[in-house]
Amino acid sequence: MKGTENTEVLMGIITRLTRLVIVLLVALILVPILIINRTEIADRLSALFVEQEIKPYDESLHIKNQIKYWNAFGIERIQDSAFREKVEYGKELITHTSKYLGPNGSVAKISNGLNCQNCHLEAGTKVYGNNYGSVASLYPKFRPRSGGEVDIPARINGCFERSMNGTPLDRDSKEMEAMVTYMKYIGSNVPKGEKATGSGLKDLTFLDRAASPEKGKIVYQAKCASCHMEDGQGVLNMDSLEYMYPPLWGEHSFNDGAGLSRITKMAKYVKYNMPFGVSHDAPQLTDEEAWDVSAYINAQPRPHLETPNDWPDLTKKPIDHPFGPYSDHFTEEQHKFGPFKEILNKRKQ
Ligand code: HEC
Ligand code: HEC
Repeated sequence: MKGTENTEVLMGIITRLTRLVIVLLVALILVPILIINRTEIADRLSALFVEQEIKPYDESLHIKNQIKYWNAFGIERIQDSAFREKVEYGKELITHTSKYLGPNGSVAKISNGLNCQNCHLEAGTKVYGNNYGSVASLYPKFRPRSGGEVDIPARINGCFERSMNGTPLDRDSKEMEAMVTYMKYIGSNVPKGEKATGSGLKDLTFLDRAASPEKGKIVYQAKCASCHMEDGQGVLNMDSLEYMYPPLWGEHSFNDGAGLSRITKMAKYVKYNMPFGVSHDAPQLTDEEAWDVSAYINAQPRPHLETPNDWPDLTKKPIDHPFGPYSDHFTEEQHKFGPFKEILNKRKQ
């Protein structure tokens, strides 16, 4: 009996020793391989992770009816440090664009001194603050302005050439990639093809009359000039690299090809976001004040952009485009300030 027990114990020890030797041998071969290829392996792993980070819509993260308005997908969730750095650089560029890409930009001098955030509030995440909630889900998309398909870099460059009165950013640059990655990431909780609730700008009812620059001037002086200044030129920061209060017209402002030079966009933006600090659910301006002050701002001079290729199909040109040609008989004045209901009704016929 004793002999068999001893043999069993011995066999047990031998088996364990053999396993240990095998593990040691494998380690001895693997460790040098891992060390020699460590950067490549890290790159591969992080690439795998990046693909997983921007993953398709996950129902459990955004349960319908539970969250009323779109919330940016949180950057703090990102585990992979290289990916997180890229997303954060994208956010930084949108928040402090001028420091990097403005008239004295450290990366390139290709825009007018505005920051994307001046118009896309809270780095493009504020509810109805012209946010980027539906960028990841809806692009690339067809846009009647160009008459073709537009992807995210092309749309960003639309704002560089118009809202930032500048020149396009290199599509292959680190900066473009970072901004696109940021937009895709924060919008990754919206199902592809759907518009996120609370994204972009909030609708505003048309007035029955034309918006009035004269009435708007009074609103402007009472409620806007304290920050944007009487002459609309805003106020620069101490370091002169960015605006504390951005200009609303004149040579440093967006040009007449930009979205905000259309009164409907301006009025929707202003009604639900200005004076600075108001939100869409507690606006301060009446509808009339919002339309009139927008008329006043857009009656002021600003840079002109030649856009011979815009609106190849004139019937698709927005009713509030501030200059012709148009597909109808309404005057440029009426297209600029309204009343819009007649123009809309004519369109529907
Ligand atoms: C002067 C204001 C202004 C500035 C500055 C500005 N934009 Fe815009 N941007 C707009 C307006 C207005 C729209 C159109 C909103 C609409 O049509 O509802 C827009 C639209 C966009 C869209 C498409 C959004 C969508 O849901 O279709 C993207 C992307 C965008 N801007 C990116 C940028 C980036 C990046 C910058 C900075 C490099 C920038 N914008 C600077 C005003 C601005
Ligand atoms: C308390 C200061 C303050 C007041 C008052 C104020 N704004 Fe602004 N406005 C800002 C700031 C700051 C920004 C940029 C927001 C950012 O970058 O986060 C801005 C941005 C804007 C923009 C988009 C950027 C641009 O340069 O075109 C418009 C348009 C605008 N304001 C219009 C108005 C109008 C109209 C009023 C009056 C009804 C008004 N603002 C009142 C501080 C103010």
